[in-house]
Amino acid sequence: NDSPVSLSKARNKYFGTAYQSFYPADGRFLPVLESQFNQYTPENELKWEVVQPQRGVFNWTGADLIFAEAKKTGAIVRGHTLVWHSQLPMWVQNITDASDLKSVMKTHIDAVMGRYGSQMAHIDVVNEPLNENGTWRNSVWYNLLGEEFPRIALDYAHAAAPQVKLYINDYNIESINNKSLAHAAIAKKLLSQGAPLTGYGFQAHFIGGSAPNDTAQAMKMFTDMGLEVAITELDVRVPVNNRARLIRSRDYANAFKVCIDNPKCPGVTIWGVSDETSWVPGVFAGTGSALLFDFDYKPKQAYYAVQNVL
Ligand code: XIL
Repeated sequence: NDSPVSLSKARNKYFGTAYQSFYPADGRFLPVLESQFNQYTPENELKWEVVQPQRGVFNWTGADLIFAEAKKTGAIVRGHTLVWHSQLPMWVQNITDASDLKSVMKTHIDAVMGRYGSQMAHIDVVNEPLNENGTWRNSVWYNLLGEEFPRIALDYAHAAAPQVKLYINDYNIESINNKSLAHAAIAKKLLSQGAPLTGYGFQAHFIGGSAPNDTAQAMKMFTDMGLEVAITELDVRVPVNNRARLIRSRDYANAFKVCIDNPKCPGVTIWGVSDETSWVPGVFAGTGSALLFDFDYKPKQAYYAVQNVL
């Protein structure tokens, strides 16, 4: 049978994964990465705390390794992420002056887009700006720059690398709810202002058996505006004591079906390769087994479910 990546390619979609630059130290990693995926997202290496831990001090070590691997294999890179409240160093969070913050934002965006703009297809310019009820999240960005901060960031990113597709990315917007409706209103306003917004990222960190069943409608709400919607961080976690293979397989297959059925979905990115290195068990205690490859880097039932739906 053809692999999900070749089946995705035949449908004009990429099949991606996030990974960290040190994963290749495990010899089982690269063979799976290189044979099974054609899009990479740096899992942490482009985050602010990694790239610019101190003001004016830049570190490109991890990101360079991932871009070099992509150059070698020809994989597409989705950049992740420029303006986010999390993994943001204290020196940024402690800024109190709006014009200082804008200039810091511009310097950072210019640096990342200047270095990698020619090697990235997309980037998540803004990550997770809203609360669950659809209001703006408290962050140094919102507190000093107000609702304009996504537009400011998009403008800086576009000016620095006009060919890169610019996204806003968030979680729990994979169904019609207060948060996704608020995002749709923001998207509409940004587009009416002529902001260089190309698309939305649906993170899709799902709980097996509780994945939304109206993801297609939520996606359509954005794609009807002319935006793309990528599935950017898919994983499906289940209780560690109940591996719930069928449930997880069904949720994976549904997520892929939504992307296949919408011509404005460019592809799906899984948030990691092997359960061994997934972020899930460390953050959602008692759950795991959220990815397509097990601790031995062997494909799981969900992998075959994805293959079947593609
Ligand atoms: C996670 C990484 O997977 C972890 O390694 C890190 O410790 C924390 O961040 N939403 C996002 C991603 O946009 O950047 C997060 O990645 C997962 C949730």
